[in-house]
Amino acid sequence: MVTVTPIDAPCGATITGVDLTQPLSSGDVEAIRKAWLKHLVLVFPDQPMSDDDLERFTLYFGEFGHDPFFDPIDDRTNIAAIQRNADETTPLFAENWHTDWSFQETPPIGTCLLGLTIPPQGGDTFFANQQLAYEQMPAPLKAEADSAIAIHSAETAYAPDGMYGQGKDEEQGRSMRIRSSDEARLKTRHPMVRPHTETGKPALYSTVGYIQGFEGMDKTASDDLLLRIYHHQTQDQFVYRHKWQPNMLVMWDNRAVLHKASGGYDGHDRLLHRTTIAESIK
Ligand code: SIN
Repeated sequence: MVTVTPIDAPCGATITGVDLTQPLSSGDVEAIRKAWLKHLVLVFPDQPMSDDDLERFTLYFGEFGHDPFFDPIDDRTNIAAIQRNADETTPLFAENWHTDWSFQETPPIGTCLLGLTIPPQGGDTFFANQQLAYEQMPAPLKAEADSAIAIHSAETAYAPDGMYGQGKDEEQGRSMRIRSSDEARLKTRHPMVRPHTETGKPALYSTVGYIQGFEGMDKTASDDLLLRIYHHQTQDQFVYRHKWQPNMLVMWDNRAVLHKASGGYDGHDRLLHRTTIAESIK
């Protein structure tokens, strides 16, 4: 039976009582979905899952999302490796707060990340609860956020001259299969405050980085608002720091949390397999 144990943090619950290496009953899937919508980040320890298991699990919650700037692992089209080798010197991947692919017209609602090779220390993933951050926003800032339409783009990260741009990674020996492209310069718009597509609960959506500014505002005013929102939404009181173990699956709700990677494991390999869940809800 699915057992949900809330983590003592602003979001997150540990799920036990299910074997994710086997097909799940519809009752178990429903219980997991309910826990996901409530706790936003679910942690499944001790799940020695194969790539087939990871794909099957993902598809219980929606179709696969489209990963525009990663190439998949060999022999799969929907699994990417989040990987850093022991001797790698490239800038850490995903170290800034973000929401996965928020620059897409229809961004993925969720992400599943399966820990395979986990370093003995470091490499924690941080999650910031954006429903709570919105709830606890001072009223004047909330009013500004409520009416702001954010302009999103992957440019600073994935354009050829961006952080993961062409040439740089090859020179420095990045093991991740990042594929930068001019497609990253495209812009999309989303309200800064979005109601959750299943629960209707409002949350701050994404942050500086993928958000470049706000519609109808000059750069100074737009940067100022973006930074004030950033300082509010990333405060410790909204953050859960997740520590990994091998064979641990984590699933999070991109509509309601920000996340970021962290380092501190130089000299050790780190490898996780990742899928995203598209918006079309089954
Ligand atoms: C990610 O942002 O998908 C990666 C998180 C991590 O490596 O901890």
